[in-house]
Amino acid sequence: MTYLGIDIGTSGVKALLIDRAGRPLGEATAKSVEPVRPHPGWSEQNPSDWWNATIEAIDALSKSNPEDMAKVRGIGLGGHMHGATLLDKDDKVLRPCILWNDGRSAAECAEMEVALPRLRDIAGNIAMPGFTAPKIAWVRKHEPEVFAKLAKVLLPKAYVRLLLTGEHVEDMSDAAGTLWLDVGKRDWSDELLAVTGLNRSHMPRLVEGSAPSGTLKPEFAKRWGMSGNVVVAGGAGDNAAAACGIGAIRPGEGFVSLGTSGVIFVSNDRFRPNTNGAVHAFCHAIPDTWHQMGVILSATDSLNWLSKVTGQSPAALSGAAESGFSGPGEEIFLPYLSGERTPHNNAAARGSFTGLSHSTTPGLMAQAVMEGVTFGFRDCQRVLKDAGTDFSRLLAVGGGSKSDLWLKMIATNLDIEIALPEDGDFGGALGVARLGLCAAEGADPAEIMTMPGIERVIAPDRTLTTAYSDQYARYRALYPAIEEARK
Ligand code: XUL
Repeated sequence: MTYLGIDIGTSGVKALLIDRAGRPLGEATAKSVEPVRPHPGWSEQNPSDWWNATIEAIDALSKSNPEDMAKVRGIGLGGHMHGATLLDKDDKVLRPCILWNDGRSAAECAEMEVALPRLRDIAGNIAMPGFTAPKIAWVRKHEPEVFAKLAKVLLPKAYVRLLLTGEHVEDMSDAAGTLWLDVGKRDWSDELLAVTGLNRSHMPRLVEGSAPSGTLKPEFAKRWGMSGNVVVAGGAGDNAAAACGIGAIRPGEGFVSLGTSGVIFVSNDRFRPNTNGAVHAFCHAIPDTWHQMGVILSATDSLNWLSKVTGQSPAALSGAAESGFSGPGEEIFLPYLSGERTPHNNAAARGSFTGLSHSTTPGLMAQAVMEGVTFGFRDCQRVLKDAGTDFSRLLAVGGGSKSDLWLKMIATNLDIEIALPEDGDFGGALGVARLGLCAAEGADPAEIMTMPGIERVIAPDRTLTTAYSDQYARYRALYPAIEEARK
């Protein structure tokens, strides 16, 4: 028997096929059309882009691994969180999806918190523009003709599930990021829904990530040469999916993710909300488990931005940073290109470079970008500590974790060990393939979500501790000063 994980990212889709022991048998990726930004701070993508990329990736896998694909029994879906996919009563998409890094709905967030003072207690989170509900409040106000036709709101992976199975279903980990879920009770909240003029009929059915959500339509089973019933699991939001991939499901286990966004994720045995410092408190993708996160919106996205403006590839930039590195310099970068969630909860914040001189090179700018993102993680660690959550080691995941310099900066600034999984694929696609396995076989997630072997551990470089503490103090002083000047 084999299992398929499909990870729907903002920039592409990855499909990974595993066997019962979780060993990879094949993988395929397909690029999506990049998000469009019709105004500064906005970010949208057409749901058909995820669908086309999903089909392209699975088609490729069925060409490269036809025999293994014939044995698929379970599929898991994972994807970027919070995106508002609006459907009419015939399941037609009403407008482009408003994505997780779209900051247009700050005013609606404030209005929602006034309308329901208990909002933070029920949702376990501050109303932040990244979340789904405020985006609908924005549509209701600014596009009333769209809102009038609204019959269902789905998150990105739930939309792909609808096309694969015909079912409207969401898993708890992704549902927790909508701001419509009573996160402690793992159920939709009528009160939260009412704040945005919605009710349960607008919501998909809820299942745990490791439980079945539907079966693959026969036309797709045939297209990919699969025989018999193929169960589709609830799946997970991309961060809970990554946690399932590296086996971070027990209290205190966690990771740092250097992807488009940057995340510090820690598993909890119970619902532990702490809205101070914009800590996220969500359900995990397996029953009776929750997690906390600090989220920074532009991690590798900050290096991608520098790549666009300098015309040098992200790899060339981080290579230049590495070869010239001798500790923090004069340049400081604030990575708030899409505003920021943790710790500021300010969608209107913007990125900044300071300390530029005639000596500033693209390599030094890249170093400052990597340090700015690292300081963002240091902020996350600070507010998670305030929330009573401490850690001395995190696993590193995501594309940016290929850079040793970046990981060294993180280890030094957070004063923790960064563990690198042994060679292999332990990302979100593996996590959701594992959820597909659990749903198809009724397996116990605790037995399936094992941790990979550790290839090496990056320790803090204590010769740089003081220099980085000083630079972090400068970094922290810049945000309030720049915000004041921008008023
Ligand atoms: C988490 C978040 C991002 C997205 C995209 O709250 O917004 O990590 O899931 O990766």
